[in-house]
Amino acid sequence: MPRPLLKWVGGKGELLPELLCRIEELPEFRRYHEPFLGGGALFFELVRLKKLPRSKAWLSDNNAELIETYRAVRDHVDRVIKLLAQHKSRHCETYFYELRANLPADAIARAARIVYLNKTCFNGLYRVNRKGQFNTPLGKYANPNICDEPNLRAAAEAFKRATLEHAPFTSILKTAEPGDLVYLDPPYHPISKTSSFTAYGKGGFGEDSQELLAKTFRELTVRGVHAILSNSMTDLVSELYRGFRIDEVMVKRSINSNAGKRGPIGEALIRNF
Ligand SMILES: C[S@@+](CC[C@H](N)C(=O)[O-])C[C@H]1O[C@@H](n2cnc3c(N)ncnc32)[C@H](O)[C@@H]1O
Repeated sequence: MPRPLLKWVGGKGELLPELLCRIEELPEFRRYHEPFLGGGALFFELVRLKKLPRSKAWLSDNNAELIETYRAVRDHVDRVIKLLAQHKSRHCETYFYELRANLPADAIARAARIVYLNKTCFNGLYRVNRKGQFNTPLGKYANPNICDEPNLRAAAEAFKRATLEHAPFTSILKTAEPGDLVYLDPPYHPISKTSSFTAYGKGGFGEDSQELLAKTFRELTVRGVHAILSNSMTDLVSELYRGFRIDEVMVKRSINSNAGKRGPIGEALIRNF
């Protein structure tokens, strides 16, 4: 412990060893930044392995509910656990849809609601409708782990060393300094027109966003910031990062609604070191 407290599409389970062995090639780094935080698989793994420097980590994502949830866990873990224990004891189909339909006024209650919905909804998928309301249906779990108290406490401890910001990835240019390490894990460029998954929140992550990201990556490089980025291995990605080290690694997709596409696929790990 700690491990990610939310399931998140694009969670990096399979890719972690590949990322870690490349990061280990760096003799050292100053501060750690993760501007597409999601479930935070790499952040938690670095904490678990005691590989993060003592200085603060900068974690951000443009999903406001996600960041609000992590802040509540960091600052009020006892209250989040208490509420989750209540949700656990009342969990059933009717309760799930009742809670899904009602957004509490209190931020800590909203955080416990997100953790509960994440643990009990279909595939842990974070999906919202046009009004920004969570709309993933109930999943089929015999015994969902709704209140994992030890891990929530360990995650809260880990987050105490982090700045958690609701921000677009470009804000990395304001915070990263020479010698820091940045891990960029954007929504992947789709390998085909039908494979696109853009439901992390309102708005998508199209080719213009991929281009802006590549520009940001080059800017970080010029400033002497160590950067490593994961993406799918597509022609656009190879083109955008030409001149950088691009390794193709084979991983199984952790969440793919189409069972036929769950086989190993090539992912690109791009770095400037
Ligand atoms: C592939 S996921 C990251 C998964 C994460 N590495 C993990 O281990 O779970 C991409 C994340 O980027 C966030 N995101 C999408 N567009 C963004 C943007 N323009 N700026 C910052 N974050 C963004 C999404 O909310 C999502 O959490």
